[in-house]
Amino acid sequence: MSLAFPTRWGLCALALALPMAPSLAQDLQLARNLAATCANCHGTNGNARGDMKPLAGMPADKLLALWADYKSGAQPATIMHQISKGYTDEQVRLIAAYFASQSPAKP
Ligand code: HEC
Repeated sequence: MSLAFPTRWGLCALALALPMAPSLAQDLQLARNLAATCANCHGTNGNARGDMKPLAGMPADKLLALWADYKSGAQPATIMHQISKGYTDEQVRLIAAYFASQSPAKP
């Protein structure tokens, strides 16, 4: 009994941890794929070229606030008011977290 207890506890912890690991990896993959749909305009990993606004390193709450203003129409835009309507809140949260984790390119 004194040996069985820690073993059983260890199996329990493993059973809890296993289903979480793939889902975290999938979220990361999903976030990267979603963020890639912004790359045409905002550059690879959010590092924009020329006059386009960079997203790399932007704090997630700033991106979410800008996004909400585009979506509601509070912030007039040429294109983002349309694009912002094409993603769910959960997708935008993943995208925002992804760009926040990217390093802005050195000039
Ligand atoms: C077709 C080009 C295009 C695509 C694709 C695009 N954007 Fe934009 N984005 C723009 C333009 C242009 C602006 C400037 C506002 C405007 O005129 O719409 C902008 C502005 C922004 C801003 C505000 C930046 C700032 O510093 O003020 C954010 C945030 C943003 N986009 C996020 C995204 C995200 C996230 C995606 C992908 C889901 C995305 N955009 C996809 C063209 C694009």
